Amino acid sequence: MRKKVIAGNWKMNMLPDETIRFIEELAPLVKDSKNEVVLCVPYTDLFYALLTAQNTNIKIGAQNMHFEESGAYTGEVSAKMLQAIHVEYVIIGHSERRQYFHETDETVNKKVKAAFQYDLKPIVCVGETLEQRESGETEKIITEQTQLALQGLSNEQVENTIIAYEPIWAIGTGKTATKEDANNSIQAIRNKIAEIYGQMVANRVIIQYGGSVKSSNAKELFEMPHIDGGLVGGASLKAEEFSKIVNFEG
Ligand code: PGA
Repeated sequence: MRKKVIAGNWKMNMLPDETIRFIEELAPLVKDSKNEVVLCVPYTDLFYALLTAQNTNIKIGAQNMHFEESGAYTGEVSAKMLQAIHVEYVIIGHSERRQYFHETDETVNKKVKAAFQYDLKPIVCVGETLEQRESGETEKIITEQTQLALQGLSNEQVENTIIAYEPIWAIGTGKTATKEDANNSIQAIRNKIAEIYGQMVANRVIIQYGGSVKSSNAKELFEMPHIDGGLVGGASLKAEEFSKIVNFEG
């Protein structure tokens, strides 16, 4: 049985004092969850989040990183730096980064490799635009993005990569993929992984759904056989709402 991973993606929101209060409020609400609880916070909140989440079951992640270890890259943060402060997870290739910050399949692949080099667990985002969906390209786009992101990884690394399937038209729009659509897309990603790395590996890869997940739709989505939890944006900014998503079974 694959574990469900529920990860919050705060994007460019929340100040240090809000971070501390949020985690103090969330911790007792999710302490009995058997699901993995992750909060991916802005760089400036990481340290506060890590300290406040100590002795809780909440794991902390970053939202991006550079693939180089160090050097003349003004404004960038490396995997080595994240590891040094004990960050566990990192989102790689979010569609907002692909769209606004020139992230490509190639840089995504380099970042995934750098993440493993420094023992970070990558959450790799893939997803189609509305236009691609309407022209029937969804499966092609998301399986290609997955294949390119994982290129050159060992089977063990592939097993430890989390993929977040996030249809771009569903992000921040209030529009959610139907549970059947989301499940089918995720199954296509899993089949592609099976084709390249074998069924055993594919069965172990955690593949989340993301895009307007909230407490009112989390249960129906996360109960689908291929959907292993979610990457949650807007609904992860309120501790109570996010706790209901983490505790979706209840
Ligand atoms: P949303 O964002 O839940 O606000 O749609 C999801 C994401 O971008 O990861």
